[in-house]
Amino acid sequence: MLVVGAGQMGGGIAQVVAASGRRVSLHDPYPGAVERGLAAIEKSLKRLAEKGGADPENTMDRIEPAPHLVAADLMIEAITEDAGAKEDVFRRADEVLPAEAVLASNTSSIPITSLAAVTTRPDRVVGMHFFNPVPVLKLVEVIRGLETSDETAAAIVRLAEELGKVPAEARDFPGFVSNRILMPFLNEAAYALMEGVAEPEAIDRIATLGFAHPLGPLALADLIGLDTCVAIMEVLHEGFGDPKFAPCPLLRQYVQAGRLGRKSGRGFYEYA
Ligand SMILES: NC(=O)c1ccc[n+]([C@@H]2O[C@H](COP(=O)([O-])OP(=O)(O)OC[C@H]3O[C@@H](n4cnc5c(N)ncnc54)[C@H](O)[C@@H]3O)[C@@H](O)[C@H]2O)c1
Repeated sequence: MLVVGAGQMGGGIAQVVAASGRRVSLHDPYPGAVERGLAAIEKSLKRLAEKGGADPENTMDRIEPAPHLVAADLMIEAITEDAGAKEDVFRRADEVLPAEAVLASNTSSIPITSLAAVTTRPDRVVGMHFFNPVPVLKLVEVIRGLETSDETAAAIVRLAEELGKVPAEARDFPGFVSNRILMPFLNEAAYALMEGVAEPEAIDRIATLGFAHPLGPLALADLIGLDTCVAIMEVLHEGFGDPKFAPCPLLRQYVQAGRLGRKSGRGFYEYA
């Protein structure tokens, strides 16, 4: 299997795939990205091993850095949420991977149908949307593009189950199901902060203690990445043409300032 993108999601996906006993190639062209991804995987595996739930050495041995796209029976793409960049990966993967291979995207919002359209195998292109942190959260949203075959969707459902995950199938509409519901919630929390309705801690406490969410919306946005949240909201906004999905100006401003959340050390909160 080939995972493209070694950020928080690509690393997590490579980790669960390798932990299931499969070999995985991990590709990311940015200098140091694969090394950082591998270090994060190792740290996560050690943490899980302390709880008796991982085999760090053998799992790491099954992950091989790939300096470029390589042949595999399945690609899972997990690069930055940018339609042009993803289309470029799908175009190149279509040339490199065998004709029968499945090309999957972990995109949060970009239409699977448009990624499929740049390939010669739209029936074998599918959404395989994991949740963050991948080794912990069970859900995989499986998204069928317009041309995705039953066989392809069934293979991804089966793989998700073999990885110990629980699949939920959705059709290819903006934000699918998960982010169509989640992003307006996170965005409204950002508006509440921007308008001075409450401090971040109070906004998050209302969700954790009032709604029994494990994380409040601002802490969750920081975990997802504020750049990723804005990119997803832009796809929702454009896809539905509905102003309710427009990203809150405060979110945009934080992204402009480089406050991307946990991954940059600061978002709504500061991280050591
Ligand atoms: N963050 C989340 O909570 C979350 C959850 C589900 C899905 N997703 C989706 O997963 C994808 C990745 O998100 P992330 O949070 O891991 O982002 P991230 O910023 O942590 O990582 C993105 C990685 O992609 C790499 N990259 C950029 N362009 C590339 C290219 N052309 N080829 C190969 N690698 C490239 C970057 O070097 C970086 O390592 C996005 O599509 C996002 O919407 C994110």
